[in-house]
Amino acid sequence: MHPTPLYCAESARRDTAGQLASRFALPLVAQRPTDGYWLELGPERLELVTSAKHGAVYAEFVEGAARHRREQGGGRGQPVAKAVGLKGAKDLPRVVDATAGLGGDSFVLATLGCHVTMLERSPVAAALLADALERAARDPSTQDIAARMTLVHGNAIDWLAQQAALPREARPDVVFVDPMFPDTDKKSAAAKKGMQAFQHVIGDDLDSAQLLEAAIAAATVRVVVKRPQRGVPIEGVKPSVVLDGKSTRFDLYIIKALRPQDFADAD
Ligand SMILES: C[S@@+](CC[C@H](N)C(=O)[O-])C[C@H]1O[C@@H](n2cnc3c(N)ncnc32)[C@H](O)[C@@H]1O
Repeated sequence: MHPTPLYCAESARRDTAGQLASRFALPLVAQRPTDGYWLELGPERLELVTSAKHGAVYAEFVEGAARHRREQGGGRGQPVAKAVGLKGAKDLPRVVDATAGLGGDSFVLATLGCHVTMLERSPVAAALLADALERAARDPSTQDIAARMTLVHGNAIDWLAQQAALPREARPDVVFVDPMFPDTDKKSAAAKKGMQAFQHVIGDDLDSAQLLEAAIAAATVRVVVKRPQRGVPIEGVKPSVVLDGKSTRFDLYIIKALRPQDFADAD
């Protein structure tokens, strides 16, 4: 896949564009592309845009759906919070979101008080996330939440393998996994939300089975896999528990059940 160019027409933001280009190895171009997909840094935010008729895609933690979630969200009773184990928890888990995407799930968990490390391998998604985080860190209504979110640009399979070698207390409690599957459910859902550009640029995640393995080896409490309600589970280890929702399902892999030997001393 060709690298996605980054264009900035705002003279006041050229330095920021240069920093984004070098941090995420994006080619900075002097002219607005005339076809394909590109990232454009405007006066307000960074967007993924295209010459075709798709809407612009960006990550957002301050306004719109994120504001609604922050103000009216279902608290620890909402499905993603239950899946991660927040309901009734005394201590909040340290969460790694291994497939951060545009950060929607990470944001919900950070809003509920979790510290979330967001791993993202796509330079486009990672740049969109970095821009949204920077805006959230400047806004008084989101700065505390943004302070609990850390972005790491890289492949989660490698990053989690390093974590698995650390002592138990240094490893993440929960690893959250939401890959882009080559199935139709998520594609049509993404298409409805005007996310075709994101889908096209990121592509399918064909290595989810390796990612699940790496997540199980690194997590100390559980791995949570988010799937469309009727989607197939990730190949390999079977989920210990399945939480069904209306459109989304969470497959839980409980470490104590999968690796009881790790808990022998603690019991
Ligand atoms: C379906 S999206 C995640 C959406 C996200 N849960 C949200 O709320 O916005 C999947 C993302 O995971 C990323 N991804 C998949 N496998 C990865 C890996 N091994 N390492 C890092 N990122 C990965 C993809 O680049 C893509 O951006």
